[in-house]
Formats: sequence, C-alpha cells, structure tokens
Amino acid sequence: MPDAMEPAPSVLDEILAGLSAPQKTLPAKLFYDEAGCALFNRITLLPEYYVTRAEMALLDRHAPEIAAHAPPGAALVEYGASDEAKGVALLDAGRRPFAAYVPVDIAEPALLAIAGRMRGSHPALAVVPVAADFLQPLALPPAVAGLPPFGFFPGSTIGNFRPPMVRRFLRTVRATLSGVEAPGFVVGTDLRKDPSRLLPAYDDGAGITAAFNRNILLHVNRIADGDFDPDAFAHRAVWNAHEGRIEMHLESRTAQAVRVAGRTVRFRAGESIHTEDSYKHTPDGFRALAAEAGWRSGGFWRDPDGLFGMHLLRG
Ligand code: AVJ
Repeated sequence: MPDAMEPAPSVLDEILAGLSAPQKTLPAKLFYDEAGCALFNRITLLPEYYVTRAEMALLDRHAPEIAAHAPPGAALVEYGASDEAKGVALLDAGRRPFAAYVPVDIAEPALLAIAGRMRGSHPALAVVPVAADFLQPLALPPAVAGLPPFGFFPGSTIGNFRPPMVRRFLRTVRATLSGVEAPGFVVGTDLRKDPSRLLPAYDDGAGITAAFNRNILLHVNRIADGDFDPDAFAHRAVWNAHEGRIEMHLESRTAQAVRVAGRTVRFRAGESIHTEDSYKHTPDGFRALAAEAGWRSGGFWRDPDGLFGMHLLRG
C-alpha cells in the first residue's frame, strides 16, 4: 500500500500548498486510503446515496446496447477500476465478445484482486491490469496492442474534475485510444437534479459521509505527520449552483492551530477546508465539454429514474 512507503514529495507539497491557500483545500485523492475505501463502500449502500445503484440500474437495462458500440474483439479499458462490477456488466453484455479487459488504477492491490477474481469468472478473457495514474498519458500494454480499445470510465469519478481538468483528461484518453478509426469512450456522469435530492446524498443521516470526509484528516496526519483532530471539524455539503457541483468542506469548529509536515496551519472559527467537488453535469453541458476536447457524442443513456447518465463519446 502507498501508505507504507515514504510519500512522494509532491503529495506533501500538494497538502501544504492546499492548506496555505486563501480557501484551504486538500486533494480529493487522499480520501481513498484503506479506511476511506471502506467508508466509500458503505456510502454506496446508503439509502440517500442513489449514485451507485442508479448506475448499476442503467447498466442492467442498457449494457447490451452500449456494448454493441464496441468493435468485435475489443479490449475494454476501464479507468479508475476499483472493482470489476461495472466492467463485467459491459463484458457480459456484448454479443460480439470482448477479447480483453484492461482495468487501469493507481491502487495496485485492488487491481490484483480484480485480476484474481476475473481469471476465475472469465477464463477466456485476457485480463491485463495496468497500475498507473490515469491522468497521465498512458501506453496500452503490448499484450493488447493489436486489439481495438474501447474506453470506459464509470462511477461519475469524472465529477471530481473541474472543467479544465476534464478537457485535459479527455484529450489524454483520446490519445491513448487513438489508432482505431473512431475510438469509443463510455463515461458515466451523475446528472444535475434538485438540491433536495443531492444534498442528503452527501450528508446522510447515519453520518457515514461525514466520517468519510473527516477521514481525510487522519490520512493527512499519517502521511504528513499532522495533528489534526477530526472532531474539531464539522462536515458540510453545499450545492454550488453557479458551478453546478456539490462541494464538501470540513469547517473548523473553533479558532485553532494544526501542525502539518513541520508547519503550523491556522484556522479561524468557521473557516473551511474544501475537500471535494462533485460536478453534476447536464447531458448538454457534458457533451459541450467533450466537444472542446475533440470528442463527439455517439449516444446517451439514463437509468429508469433519470438520475444518472452514460455518454458514448466518439473520437
Ligand atoms: C466516487 C467521486 C463518484 O462524488 O459521489 C461520495 C465520491 N464523495 N460521497 C461522488 C463521494 C462523497 C463520489 N465519487
């Protein structure tokens, strides 16, 4: 696990830069240490958090239609694959079977677990995990170099990226998947909806999202030798209508000073650390962003309740 290693200096730099900014921030990737992954799994089961269920319902209904857009014998390249449930929904739906599954993620243990399970459940499929930061340009492994790639980015993970980052990411993926006629990339996005539905999904009654949010401070304490008291911060979820995103913040309950990586970080009472953005793209808004990155729309599906959307982008 990355935690057992010396953190790359850039992570410490990111933490210190974020905590020195006028609006303090922490990088959202720091949510996902082991405890954070377990808390996120509990979030996906909460009655208020409809996102994961809606996406699975979408795939239950539309996976055959979506998979039919993949070229025969394609390699399904899944970005941010923390488990295989959504990838398998596409892999098993194809009438023209996929030849390979390429889960890409930064978390190597999760990838190895996926590969282990898949070799049992899908023995005819080549499973070729790639441990990489998918925000960086990526070369597909030689084992699938001859196969037409078909990209998949489920989970509304793209909702964590601000628009400039979305454009950069979509251009990077286009470069990775190019080489075929018109590369295909399927992207899941949670849809814009009434804040009365959105806010409870990010501030649940059982306090699991609050625990998930505060856990980032425990992670920072561990990797940056900090002394944050998570209970000294209140969990806040805010709908930012102008930006079209849910924001999560940790709001200091009192004026306090915290030690992080040998520095002192001061908080006013009520001052917040902005920990996450979760963009809720409209279908048109997302298509426009994708177009700015050189993709055109090749299809769009929603779950039966109209909560979650999946775009097929064509290069
Ligand atoms: C994993 C990024 C899709 O934004 O809904 C859940 C993370 N944060 N509850 C989301 C999250 C708070 C989640 N994503």
